[in-house]
Amino acid sequence: WPDGTRVAGGDLVIGGLPATQLAARFGTPCQVLDERTVRARATAFRTALPRAEVVFAGKSLPCPEVYRWMAQEGLSLDVSSAGELALAKAAGFPAQRIIMHGNVKTAEDLKAALAYGVSRIVVDSLDEIAQLGALATRGQEVMIRVTPGIDARTHAKIATGVEDQKFGFSLASGAALEAVLRVVEQPSLTLAGLHCHIGSQVRHVASYEEAVRRMVGLIASCGTRISQLDLGGGFCAPYLAGERDFDLAGFAHRITGTLNYECGVHRVPPPRLLIEPGRSIVANAGVTLYRVCAVKHGLTRTFVAVDGGMSDNPRPALYGAKYAVRLVGRGGRPKPVTVVGRHCEAGDVLAEDVPLPHDVHAGDLLAVPATGAYHHALASNYNQVCRPPVVAVKDGVARPIVRRETEEDLLRRYV
Ligand code: LLP
Repeated sequence: WPDGTRVAGGDLVIGGLPATQLAARFGTPCQVLDERTVRARATAFRTALPRAEVVFAGKSLPCPEVYRWMAQEGLSLDVSSAGELALAKAAGFPAQRIIMHGNVKTAEDLKAALAYGVSRIVVDSLDEIAQLGALATRGQEVMIRVTPGIDARTHAKIATGVEDQKFGFSLASGAALEAVLRVVEQPSLTLAGLHCHIGSQVRHVASYEEAVRRMVGLIASCGTRISQLDLGGGFCAPYLAGERDFDLAGFAHRITGTLNYECGVHRVPPPRLLIEPGRSIVANAGVTLYRVCAVKHGLTRTFVAVDGGMSDNPRPALYGAKYAVRLVGRGGRPKPVTVVGRHCEAGDVLAEDVPLPHDVHAGDLLAVPATGAYHHALASNYNQVCRPPVVAVKDGVARPIVRRETEEDLLRRYV
């Protein structure tokens, strides 16, 4: 739940506003985002690692207003496409604090990045190095995405540091060193640093420590000065009660220690550290409100069907992600139910076997916490359901920062 969320008179108060009021004013489904929580998490990263560059992973919550908050909190921004860059431009995000990422960048992505003058582009293939080398003119700074061969013990679909997946240049095979040479021989490119991203929803600091060891080893063998080391993002966020938050203080302490130690061993000057948190900044700031449309009694289970589903939250279907659900407005003897969406698929399940009051009925309001990261980002129009708004709340004031999609929006693209 967002910081300061409380139950008052049965209602759930988020950012100083009762959820029933938010639902009445903005409709459901509605993604509520607590601005103070987002800013506090962003600041926590900056404070824990005062000398590092903290880069918000813009893909986790693409929205110009959120990008502006990040700019104000002194963070940089990682964009993974020309589209995310367009949002950054709309936000007035300073180009010198933007990094472009992506395992496949089209010519349009690269041209947009060069035209806006983004400070660094992370290259991910030899083809891309050649293409960027041809397009760039004035010593464009690049970082090289390296696959360090680390299993960060997360869901296979979001584990990106292991060998034999599509991201990056393999350290073990020597591809990473070859990429270094290729970048160095491109007159229009400047090698700024090395990058790795071992995965998402990573719980163990030890995985990052191992990444530092391997990356510093690589830096030492590069034969050229590497001034930046970007460790990517992936810091876990708690989704269910009892799950622990990422140990940011431990991370900061152990990573700086390991970096200095390894650089000493290899006799290389310590590079500036970069990290790219996304989920850990925004996940717990978000709450999605749904209206119950129907309750169905199956042979063995009770299904509580809501007015959203996999179009606003495909994460259970994609990653088997688990969510908590809370009924707003009243309590009652709990019984286990399965909360399902409105889409035409049996897999459109939001939460299985969660306790809700036994008399849950149509018209009830449900709140699902930890929906700030990769929810708005992954939302679709499946079944031509309009995407929900994102409503920012702060000190009792609510304002939409993404408006609800309308049927006009949907029709606009059809010929
Ligand atoms: N840096 C790079 C290069 C990335 O690819 C990502 C995420 C991040 C940073 C931020 O990772 P975070 O701190 O948010 O974990 N859709 C999936 C997550 C995909 C993550 C993609 N890359 C999900 O809903 O779990």
